[in-house]
Amino acid sequence: MTDQTNPLVEMKNISISFGGIHAVENASIDLYPGEVVALLGHNGAGKSTLIKILSGAYRRDEGDIMINGEAADIRTPRDAKKFGIETIYQTLAVADNVDAAANLYLGRELQTKWGTLDDVAMEANTRKVMGRLNPNFKRFKEPVKALSGGQRQSVAIARAILFDARILIMDEPTAALGPQETAQVGDLIKQLKQDGIGIFLISHDIHDVFDLADRVFVMKNGKVVGQARTQDVTKDEVLGMIILGKVPPGATPGPGAMRV
Ligand SMILES: Nc1ncnc2c1ncn2[C@@H]1O[C@H](COP(=O)(O)OP(=O)(O)O)[C@@H](O)[C@H]1O
Ligand SMILES: [Mg+2]
Repeated sequence: MTDQTNPLVEMKNISISFGGIHAVENASIDLYPGEVVALLGHNGAGKSTLIKILSGAYRRDEGDIMINGEAADIRTPRDAKKFGIETIYQTLAVADNVDAAANLYLGRELQTKWGTLDDVAMEANTRKVMGRLNPNFKRFKEPVKALSGGQRQSVAIARAILFDARILIMDEPTAALGPQETAQVGDLIKQLKQDGIGIFLISHDIHDVFDLADRVFVMKNGKVVGQARTQDVTKDEVLGMIILGKVPPGATPGPGAMRV
């Protein structure tokens, strides 16, 4: 992370309420190219709501979003896609009955000059993208319902890459996976990082994300408690931020920090 690069994403002083409940209050987070930023906090802390404002699923009441240093008017998921923002959900949103290539090209199928489906080109491109993400993957001819959770997650990520994602949001990406598959998603994330993609990794479980993240933001009751580089804090200190809102010396406090 150098001073010369603009942040890929800056969300500044974001607030949103649902019927008088402040789901997110005055929250600011940022993300640099090739960086993995974890967003941590208990269930109900406001993580998904904040990130849904970035993905265009919710409209903010207040605050600014900057992408590559410029104000970004994100009102819909389509707007977010225009800025290279893609979201991977824990629910492994893939189409079960078709193969990897059909999933990657769902809704934007390639056609031959005769107007028929260009299955050859779609499979070739799929092999290229999947080969980069998950070199061991060989099951191109099978419906994705036959794949493991980790393999399905790599199909979902490959789909985002094919959309030219520069900013990837992963909301609890390993919640439905076993330990081995979780490790596999970790490998995918390291690969994406090398390609300069910025990743927001959202989790209620610090153990899932701490080792992958360059920085963490902790949320509690809709507010940012603080942020830190993972190299400057321990897991226990971050747990103290999550549970008590207590900010350790290696972290920078936010509006939700416990006052002492
Ligand atoms: N569409 C909605 N309508 C009403 N309340 C919501 C809505 N979405 C989220 N909330 C509320 O906002 C708060 C934050 O939720 P959420 O962002 O899902 O937390 P997290 O992802 O950290 O578990 C919760 O109190 C939740 O009930
Ligand atoms: Mg959530």
